[in-house]
Amino acid sequence: MSKITAAITAVGAYVPEYRLTNKILETMVETTDEWITTRTGIKERRILKDKDKGTSFMAIKAAEDLLAKSKVDPGEIDLVLLGTATPDMPVAATAVYVATQIGATNAFAYDIQAACSNFLFGMSTAARYIESGRYKKVLLIGADKMSSILDYTDRTTCIIFGDGAGAVLFEPNTEGYGLKDEYLRADGNGREFLKIEAGGSLLPPTEETVKMKQHYVFQDGKSVFKFAVSNMAEVAALVMERNGLDHDDVQWLVPHQANKRIIDATANRMGLDASKVMVNIQKYGNTTSATLPLLLNEYEGQLKKGDNLIFAAFGGGFTWGSIYLTWAYNSQ
Ligand code: UT7
Repeated sequence: MSKITAAITAVGAYVPEYRLTNKILETMVETTDEWITTRTGIKERRILKDKDKGTSFMAIKAAEDLLAKSKVDPGEIDLVLLGTATPDMPVAATAVYVATQIGATNAFAYDIQAACSNFLFGMSTAARYIESGRYKKVLLIGADKMSSILDYTDRTTCIIFGDGAGAVLFEPNTEGYGLKDEYLRADGNGREFLKIEAGGSLLPPTEETVKMKQHYVFQDGKSVFKFAVSNMAEVAALVMERNGLDHDDVQWLVPHQANKRIIDATANRMGLDASKVMVNIQKYGNTTSATLPLLLNEYEGQLKKGDNLIFAAFGGGFTWGSIYLTWAYNSQ
């Protein structure tokens, strides 16, 4: 029997309509369009304005987009995985609600939490279920309502993040397409640099924690940047090297969209021309779990069967890694 690999067979996405531009941010905090553009590459980000809608709303929309495009029957989905740092609520898992809402009534479901590496680690998880031979359709969604955990008076964080969702379907492949290799890493010494301090079991929410704004994202940007820039480039180069790929063999780098300078450093280290690098940070900022599937959805029309894709991400924790995957279909 030929080996089963886990291939991506469909993609979908959703971003909210409201555009929070750098110009608008200039009126909210002490910043400039010029500073944000040169330091991050971001021009605008999408924000889910509706107070009564959480991450599940965007995750459902992205999944429905995928289902409509692929004509997959949701009843055939075996598993729904949702990567998110902003679940609807701490308990119950948002993936379960999403699965039910999209009609995936025969699926089990759970959330994955590894900050900005959510989707990358989720790809690894999804692939293991498919490779086992036991599951045929795994829906992986990355969705975050980052605006729900940002302090819009803190210029060091509120300019970076945006809201959005993307989804991919993994199915078995016996022709060798799909996930080929991965190198995933974690280092708990990093948690001081990027965190939400309060609201968990270590520091449950109180009036005091709210007053101290400890329920918002804190980031020591400079330190995170230093680790991200070297580690993301290193793992992507390592995955290329150990698979005997040189820059001509790689058609696309699919990098987490945290900062254009981190993306450029990774591409340089891999020896890749800018034309092979997927980028949409200028439109969406850092959508945490949604960056990678939003890229795939946007570039889907340019992807060809057999293309070699290198994914790379870095996030809070710290967590980071790289995945080598061959694309399994030509989209029309
Ligand atoms: O996806 C998860 C992983 N996250 C990341 O990968 C993010 C990594 N970090 C970064 O992308 C960058 O560190 C930031 C974009 C967050 C910051 O850029 P930076 O070039 O590292 O700036 P900095 O923090 O070193 O700040 C430089 C200066 C400071 O002023 P002083 O102390 O030099 O006077 C900041 O106070 O820029 C100031 N500054 C700003 N100025 C205008 C910080 N934020 C802003 C702002 N507008 N929004």
